[in-house]
Parts: sequence; C-alpha cells; structure tokens
Amino acid sequence: MPQQLSSGFLNAIQNRRTIYGLTKKTILPDPQIVQLVQQAVREAPSAFNVQSSRVVILLGKQHDDYWNQIVPASLRAVAGESAVEASKGKLAGFANGVGTILFFEDEALIKGQQQSFPQYAAGFPLWSNHHSGIAQIYTWVLLESEGYGCNLQHYGGLTGETLKKVYNLPESYKLQSEMVFGYPEAPAGEKSYMNDNERVIVFN
Ligand SMILES: Cc1cc2nc3c(=O)[nH]c(=O)nc-3n(C[C@H](O)[C@H](O)[C@H](O)COP(=O)(O)O)c2cc1C
Repeated sequence: MPQQLSSGFLNAIQNRRTIYGLTKKTILPDPQIVQLVQQAVREAPSAFNVQSSRVVILLGKQHDDYWNQIVPASLRAVAGESAVEASKGKLAGFANGVGTILFFEDEALIKGQQQSFPQYAAGFPLWSNHHSGIAQIYTWVLLESEGYGCNLQHYGGLTGETLKKVYNLPESYKLQSEMVFGYPEAPAGEKSYMNDNERVIVFN
C-alpha cells in the first residue's frame, strides 16, 4: 500500500515538466482551478509554520492583460522597444495559456519573524524563499497531474510594483514568480539528467 502511494507521487513528479506550447482549451472550470491552487498552497510547509505565501490567480482578461500589456510596458520602460520586440513571440506564447498564478511572499511576516527570533534573523528570508518554492512546485505538480501544462517565469522584478497597484495588494507582498498554465498543446523539450550518484551520495 505505501509503495503504491509513493509510486503515484513519483509518477506525478516525473510528469512535471516545463511546457511552453499552451492554449486556452478548457480542462477544468475556473472554480476547480482555484480550489486546486488553494489546496497546493495550503499544504506547503513553512518555517515556524508562518504560511507567508500569498497567491493571486489571473484568469481570462486579467491573464491576457498581464502578458499583452503589463509585461511589455514594464519591459519597455527599462529596456526599450527593441527588448519588447525581441520578447514578443515568447510573451504571446504565455498569453495563449489559460491563466497565470502569481506567487508572492508577505515580507511583513518575515520581518516579524526576524524581530521575534533575532537569533535566526538571517535564515528567515531564505526559508521564505524555500516555502515559496515548495508552494510553487506543489502547484505545478498538481496542475500537471490534472492535465495542464505549466511554465515558470520571473518578470516580477519589472512588474511586481505595478501588480500591487493594479490589484491593490499590500505593499509587503514580494513577487517571487509567475506560473503560466494552459492546455498542453506541445510536449516538453528534451531534458538531460546528471548521474544520480553525483547528486546523491551515501555513507554507511
Ligand atoms: C527556480 C526555477 C526558476 C526558473 N525560471 C525560469 C524562467 O524564468 N523562465 C523559464 O522559461 N523557465 C524557468 N524555469 C524552468 C527551468 O528552466 C526548467 O524547470 C528546467 O530546465 C528543467 O526542465 P523541466 O521543468 O521540464 O523539468 C525555472 C525553474 C526553476 C525551478
């Protein structure tokens, strides 16, 4: 029994890949997508159980606007029109997906932890990143288990402040990543793996 359970988990993590060829074909209704993301984020462990991950799901027009307007405008502001031109195909590919999940960390909670436990102050921002990564990977695996394709993007350095204004989010939210998901129209690319023995060593 435990073996069956763990092989299900192994299958799920082995099936998780980066998929860029996405379309808007429906797999699940929006409320079920929201529920899946809530369940994934809910189970992500965090240091001292601080639960600092905050997630915003952009669907429909909000998703389209992010990739067709917010990202190009932010890119244009820092790198000019040529950078927007160079990224056009890629951004259009993201817009072709069903939605975007914005992963934030609430830094107010992390600062609170640093004040409460000064002896671990240097660790909390790192553990906050770990927690966010866990929330992201749970979400990624869960969505791909339901038949979606996903890819992970990092335009937050350009768009984080704008997103907070547009969606009236707390100032303390720090954008970590954007997960694009949709119907997987094209398979994942080739992927190479290092020798397992180089990455995992055992002493006994
Ligand atoms: C922390 C992290 C950051 C990543 N950042 C990006 C990114 O900004 N843009 C992108 O297209 N892919 C990004 N990726 C996807 C990786 O390139 C991809 O996971 C890796 O090549 C392995 O391929 P796979 O996801 O198909 O297993 C990121 C992945 C991780 C885990």
